Amino acid sequence: MAASTELNDTARAEGSTAAPGAQGPSGPAVAGADAGRLQRLAKRNLWMHFTRMGSYEDHDVPVIVRGEGCYVYDEHGKRYLDGLSALYCVNVGHGRAELGEAAAAQARELGFYTNWSYAHPRAIELAARVAELAPGNLNRVFFTSGGSEAVESAWKLAKAYHAERGEPRRHKLVSRNLAYHGTSMGALAATALTPLRVPFEPLTPGGVQVPNTNSYRWQEDRDELWAADAIEEAIEFQGPETVAAVILEPVQNGGGCFVPQDGYFQRVREICDRHGVLLISDEVICSWGRLGYWFGSERYDYLPDMITTAKGITSAYVPLGAMIAGDHIAEPFLQGKVAFNHGFTFGGHPVACAVALANIEVIEREELCAHVLANEGALRGMLESLRDIPIVGDVRGAGYFQAIELVKDKARKETFDSRESEELLRGFLSGELYRRGLICRTDDRGDPIVQLSPPLIAGPEQFEEIEAVLRAVLSEASERTERWSSLSRA
Ligand SMILES: Cc1ncc(COP(=O)(O)O)c(C=O)c1O
Repeated sequence: MAASTELNDTARAEGSTAAPGAQGPSGPAVAGADAGRLQRLAKRNLWMHFTRMGSYEDHDVPVIVRGEGCYVYDEHGKRYLDGLSALYCVNVGHGRAELGEAAAAQARELGFYTNWSYAHPRAIELAARVAELAPGNLNRVFFTSGGSEAVESAWKLAKAYHAERGEPRRHKLVSRNLAYHGTSMGALAATALTPLRVPFEPLTPGGVQVPNTNSYRWQEDRDELWAADAIEEAIEFQGPETVAAVILEPVQNGGGCFVPQDGYFQRVREICDRHGVLLISDEVICSWGRLGYWFGSERYDYLPDMITTAKGITSAYVPLGAMIAGDHIAEPFLQGKVAFNHGFTFGGHPVACAVALANIEVIEREELCAHVLANEGALRGMLESLRDIPIVGDVRGAGYFQAIELVKDKARKETFDSRESEELLRGFLSGELYRRGLICRTDDRGDPIVQLSPPLIAGPEQFEEIEAVLRAVLSEASERTERWSSLSRA
């Protein structure tokens, strides 16, 4: 596994700021002087997240200035297909004026009020709407500003819930290898990516890691539900009386869209119930239609005790997250002098709640969940059709959340070492995909992958564009790796 953690180091590759309109239709460019000013100020003042900023010394920062539907435009007016929904976020697509109008109307009516001991109409209405859409008895909604805060809140609530019920030693949180659950110190204890954790150790105590569901890399004779059973082993090893919760994504992002085996979540639910451990479904990516359902847990037919969500709840037009708790989890906090002593100033911001309500209305009105279910086969079929390219080892995922794993030798499923992966992903792939007008994720925090998560409005036209770029770029990547292999054999 390579140590790098950047999202997509586009700027390191040559030509990441190709001439306006080099590929596909272009839009209005920012005036030359302004584009130069933006570059200068970005390099001088902006601290980009998960970014090797040194790589921008001699390359431009990719600056995205405008979006419309499935497309975004850089400061030169060049158009890109946003195959990543701006980091799994913009579910309804870019440029929706009605979301901006909802924000403006709310800011005029009530710009801000807090949810600390007070309520306001939009938070109340959104909580009721989310509860209506959420599965089972998940009726109590605690708003946050984003996904890490939602995960922090779920873990703290799990501890507080057990303490209220007389089990104060239950504090541990079980998560899966390579999973990403956020970067704040609590969430980071659940995030199981070594390069993200090690620089910040010691971490919050209590994070426990178990295997994930990446069956592409399992021995063939392994039991289908081996990874689920490994959770029980870990709980028993830790001592069930110390374990508060298990946190799992419906489809795991880190490592590249690991889907669950049939019956996996049912087995995990049984294990949790057997040991009095809560099940948290982290749906920061996998809700709001991403997997073709309002919530990813519906797709796999399990009922968690809590759901964490963010990103697509507002299609990221403004920041918002939520932790949704079952009635049984909220119950100890609804009586007497008991309080869940936890909160964030901006949790349930009225402008964010107004945008979320408008966003949910768009998803419903345009039947985007049904659209994803009707079109996921075409997206997947297109990606499967790339399997003839030698470097394409595996294709996996669900809904509009799919990944291709890249391998050095398909028959042996041999992966790249960290130097090769660096060369392949940062030296070639990410820059070349971007240069050809496709934004997607290249990632080697596990084995190297290319990941796609387009806006939910995407359809066959966008899939064709994605295929054309991926086929050309992955074929060239294959030839390059073949050349390295023959050089190293020589
Ligand atoms: C599953 C999951 N949980 C938590 C987070 C953290 O969310 P945020 O970046 O909004 O804090 C993410 C972010 O991508 C995520 O994918």
